[in-house]
Order: sequence, then C-alpha cells, then structure tokens
Amino acid sequence: MIPENAGPAAVIVLAAGAGTRMKSRTPKILHEIGGLSMVGHALRAARSIAPQRLAIVVRHERDLVEAHVAALDPQAVIVDQDDVPGTGRAVEAALEALHADQDLTGTVVVTYGDVPLLSGGLLTELVATHEREGNAVTVLTAVLDDAAGYGRILRGEDGSVTGIREHKDASEAERLIREVNSGIYAFDAAVLRDALAKVTTDNAQGEKYLTDVLGLAREAGGRVAAVVTADRWQVEGANDRVQLAALGAELNRRTVEAWMRAGVTVVDPATTWIDSSVTLDQDVRLLPNTQLHGTTTVARDAVVGPDTTLTDVEVGEGATVVRTHGSGSVIGPRAAVGPFTYLRPGTVLGEKGKIGAFYETKNVTIGRGSKLSHLGYAGDAEIGEDTNIGCGNITANYDGEKKHRTVIGSGVRTGSNTVFVAPVTVGDGAYSGAGAVIRKDVPAGALALSIAAQRNTEGWVPAHRPGTRSAELAQAATHDSSSTPASTEEGK
Ligand code: UD1
Ligand code: CA
Repeated sequence: MIPENAGPAAVIVLAAGAGTRMKSRTPKILHEIGGLSMVGHALRAARSIAPQRLAIVVRHERDLVEAHVAALDPQAVIVDQDDVPGTGRAVEAALEALHADQDLTGTVVVTYGDVPLLSGGLLTELVATHEREGNAVTVLTAVLDDAAGYGRILRGEDGSVTGIREHKDASEAERLIREVNSGIYAFDAAVLRDALAKVTTDNAQGEKYLTDVLGLAREAGGRVAAVVTADRWQVEGANDRVQLAALGAELNRRTVEAWMRAGVTVVDPATTWIDSSVTLDQDVRLLPNTQLHGTTTVARDAVVGPDTTLTDVEVGEGATVVRTHGSGSVIGPRAAVGPFTYLRPGTVLGEKGKIGAFYETKNVTIGRGSKLSHLGYAGDAEIGEDTNIGCGNITANYDGEKKHRTVIGSGVRTGSNTVFVAPVTVGDGAYSGAGAVIRKDVPAGALALSIAAQRNTEGWVPAHRPGTRSAELAQAATHDSSSTPASTEEGK
C-alpha cells in the first residue's frame, strides 16, 4: 500500500548488530529511552517521512527483535542478514527482499536501529537536499571533537565528498579528520544496487562496507554530497548503558522543553521525566519529581506533583494529583488525588471526586463528587455520586479464591472503619456506623450497624500487669478521680 504524499521509495533500518557492550540479555535496540525502545524511535522517524516501503535488517536475537518490530510497525518488512558481515551486506539483503516483489527506483534512505534521537525533520532535510541536488549519494555527517571509532569523511581540494574511510583503515593523517559519517544516508536506488555488487570484504575488518558505495558512486560519475548537522545528538548511537542514559536524558530535556514552549509550566525540568508518548494541554503545571509515562494525558489547568509517577493515566481539567503512584486510571475534571495515594489499573474517579492520603484503589468507579479521603482500600467496586466513604474503609473483595464486587450507591455516608464484605450492595442514601462490617446488603436510606457491645473489665490492668507504668498511672487516676482506695473497687 502506497501512502498518499509518498516520500522516498524505501527506508532501510539496519539492526543486525550484536550490541555486546550493552552486556544485556535484552537485545540492544530493545532498550528504552523516553518510554520507547531505541528501534521504536528509529521506526517512528522512518515512518514520519512516509516511505513507500520500510525494511529492517535483523540477525542478532532476530526472533525477539522481529516480534517487537511486528508489534510496533506491522507493515515493516523484516529482512534477515546472512553470514557475510558489514553494513553493505545488510543493505544488499534489504534491497534483495524489497526488489523481490517490486522494483525500487528513486531514493532509498538508510538509518540505524540504535540512533534514537534522529528526527523526522532531519531525515526530511536529508532527502530534500539529496533530491534537489540530484545526488547519487547524500550522507549525513557531523563534526565531532572526538571522532575516534567513526568513519571519516574524505573531501577533495574543492571540498566535495570523495569517500569515507573507516577508523580501522585510516592513516594517521586521515584520523585527524573530525567530520564523521553518521551512517545515515540517502541513495539513488540504482546507484546503490550497482555499487553494492562491486563492494568487497577487502579491508581491516573483513566486512562488506556500505561506506565503499560513496567512492564507487563517484567513480561511476555520480554526485556525492553531505548534509552536515550541527546537532550531534541526532546522529549519536547508544552502544552501552552510559550512552543510553545520556541519550535518554537529552531526549527528556528536549521533550520537557518542547512542552514548556507549548505552554506547560515545568517547575524543575531536571527532575521531570516525560515519555515521548505523553500529551499535555496548555497551562498544565508539573511540580518537581514528576514522571509521566505511556499514554498519560493531562488536561488544562491540572497540577501534577510533586513526587508523582503516572503511567497510562488520564488527568482531567483542573485536577490535582499530589505524591501519587498511578497506572491505568482516569482522574476526572477538578478531582483531587493524594498525597500518598496508589491508583491501580481500572480506577475511574469522577468529576470533583477525591481519593486522599494512604488510599489504594483498583478496578473501581467512583462517581462525581464522591470522596474517599483517608486510609483505605477500594477494589472491584462501584461507588455512586456525592458519597462520602469514611476513614479507614475497606472493600474485602477477595475471599481467598475469587474476587467479588461491592456496589455502593449515591449520597451514602459510611462510618470510620467500615468493612464491605463483597459481594454486597449498599443502597442510595444509606449510612453505616463506625466499625460496621457490612456482610448483608443495606437498603436505601438504612443505617447499618454491626455492634458487638463494648465491655469494660475494671481494674484489669493493675491486676494483670502489676508494676507497669500503665498500672501505676491507672492506680493514680482511679485514686484521683474517685478518692476511693483501689482496694474497695472490688466491692463495688
Ligand atoms: C558504521 C560506519 C561508520 C560510521 C558509524 C556510525 C560502515 C562500514 N561504517 O561503523 O562509517 O561512522 O557506523 O555509527 O558502515 N549492522 C548491520 N549488519 C552488519 C553490521 C552492522 O545491520 O553486518 C548495523 C548495526 O546493527 C548498527 C549499524 O549497522 O545499527 C552500524 O553498525 P556498527 O557495527 O555500529 O558500525 P560501525 O562499524 O561502528
Ligand atoms: Ca557503531
């Protein structure tokens, strides 16, 4: 299927490498920054230029990578690289796979699966320059202070690009060059195919170098040029976890800055982490130490933080969420959550509702204006509107084997420490007394009490805990208040 406004003929994402320096059982490109795997970022940048075909070359941990890619981008063509090593071989394999069902003509872009900050904007610029100048190859380069390890850009007297020399194959003089190959290119499909057929493994690493295509294209009479980017982060790869963290921090810095420019107040950008998949409205305020992950959305005028982590949470307009850990939940407009609140998946809090301090909720729908202010657990429950759940209330939803539902109506007032032994239903406008254990349904408007009568055994402490501070104080108190000797108590 060819999308409208189709961009280049193909993007080929190289991802066959082993990534050993990550020292991980997880394939390198599946490591995440900003809530998305590195290869996820690469696929997103690739897709943003609307290529007619998108191929990704795999080899190391290919099954894990394939499953991950298929989930993110089902249209991507998975290509296996054979035993011949090198970036040139990887691209050759992709061209063969793409040619199998349709001849490629026009522009082919090559990118890497481990360069997560590359933007669609820079790729667009690369392709535009390539096509405008009618180049055979256009390579994306950057000038680095420390170019060690990179392929160096060779330029002729007139400044035109003549080729790329790999670090391991470079002379002393060539190693002084600070302009490096990012590994991201735009090629003319036919030039690329013809040149790759001529690339050998005759080099220091015994690999088929994609970089050899530049010299070959020039020899064949094609124009080779470079787009030099001043933004080195966009061409930086992550080979180990130190680089991964640095790229993650830079990505976050960019994300946070973009939201501030869009009208979000971020009090402390350094401690605010926002996944690239999060969306925020204008005039949202984020307080220090806030982490927003996944599909979290925050509507205008809401205040989130400090010290709050939300994953896949929808925060309504004007809501406040303080010192909260939440996932898979909906917080209604002008609702209040926290401090010290744990929202588990399936929590839906209505407009102007409240879930207060030391509350845990799961799989519960709470109607408009209802409040669960302090200390408790509400799970597998439905609570109507304008209901007040007293301090320390708990839904006993689990009988040891199965979970059961608690249904509480609107306008209900429950006393402190009420326990709802599910399944149970409480009607509209009902009340419960302090410490009630609700085992039977409560009709609308009823008062539910489960009273075990209180019994005081006088003198128990002095008799059973003699010599303790409690016993001493008790004796003193009974003397003071009654001015009767303790020994006469028995006779009363
Ligand atoms: C490559 C470039 C070098 C450039 C550098 C930028 C070549 C010969 N060299 O070097 O000029 O400065 O990238 O980072 O192209 N890959 C495969 N199959 C392979 C080998 C690599 O798919 O057989 C993939 C890797 O997964 C990775 C990318 O290609 O995503 C680059 O591989 P890497 O080994 O890091 O290339 P370098 O040798 O560092
Ligand atoms: Ca590399």
